[in-house]
Amino acid sequence: MRLGRVDLPGDLLLAPLAEVTNLAFRLMCKKYGASLCFSEMISSEAVVHGNDSSVLRGMTCDEERPFAVQLFGNSPDVVTEAALVLEDLFHPAIIDINLGCPAPVITNAGCGSALLDSPERVSDILSTLCEGLDTPVTAKIRVLESPAATLDIAHRLEDAGVCGITVHGRTREQGYSGTADHSYAKLIKEELSIPVISNGDIRDGVSAEKVLEYTGCDGLMIGRAAMGDPHVFHRISRYLDDGEVLECGCEQKRDDLLEYLDLLEKFDLSSHINLKAHVQWFTRGLKGSRRMRSEIGYADSRDSIVEFVQNMCEKEFV
Ligand SMILES: Cc1cc2nc3c(=O)[nH]c(=O)nc-3n(C[C@H](O)[C@H](O)[C@H](O)COP(=O)(O)O)c2cc1C
Repeated sequence: MRLGRVDLPGDLLLAPLAEVTNLAFRLMCKKYGASLCFSEMISSEAVVHGNDSSVLRGMTCDEERPFAVQLFGNSPDVVTEAALVLEDLFHPAIIDINLGCPAPVITNAGCGSALLDSPERVSDILSTLCEGLDTPVTAKIRVLESPAATLDIAHRLEDAGVCGITVHGRTREQGYSGTADHSYAKLIKEELSIPVISNGDIRDGVSAEKVLEYTGCDGLMIGRAAMGDPHVFHRISRYLDDGEVLECGCEQKRDDLLEYLDLLEKFDLSSHINLKAHVQWFTRGLKGSRRMRSEIGYADSRDSIVEFVQNMCEKEFV
């Protein structure tokens, strides 16, 4: 898939996930075949007005390129100014605009999915941004109640000059419940001439193949299935390439987790994330995982977490 100026090696993308898709995690996903990884959403106000540079901590590194950064905001000028700062400092391949976040802390400020209620504003923000920026722009939307209203937003985005759209097949009201409806992504793909990426409930090779075939989309974006499981990109790719169903056992998860912990240290990120939550995600689905997670809960330092992880496959968790 070509997105902006970049020819991506495949069609699987890592979704932006707040408090999850930090640089270390993105590098793990990339290693396992994610063609493009999106940063956690960043506040355009914080980039422009914030005096706390932590918002830009561990933004990217050379091995990650090409990388994509996601911004949220409500003002065309502030979003554009923030994007120019990021363009100048980090040269991302893509700047993505969040038009889907349903969290009240975001929507009460008129950002994220709240913007879908103001199509004119969406046009304003995206056209100002695309005109003011050298970096190609994409947008990530949720679906609206009616296909026609969703299609209107998609046309506005294309007219504004975005080079791709990601469609999460849930409404703002649904949050993360219910199942994603990919018929909207299919419709948008049929109507638009820019790349369309389908998102929602893609968790394995079978669901990936089904959504790709049904929607005809150019790519798939994977969110929750990757949390604690960057290897999912490898398994899905193998299934799509040759139908092989790979497993991910305890040793694989342990080795991934140790590598992830090393990367967090390397980029000085360990103390800026909820380390225990990240470690717990990596043990999901393993035999005795509930017991394992509760034991991790008792670990009181990074060293004891590392020690736990080193031994987790040798212990009996029943
Ligand atoms: C913990 C979490 C954080 C998220 N953060 C963001 C974000 O920063 N920006 C965004 O556009 N979507 C965000 N999302 C939505 C995901 O990118 C994705 O659209 C959604 O989870 C559906 O895909 P999935 O079924 O593959 O998880 C987040 C979702 C979760 C669960």
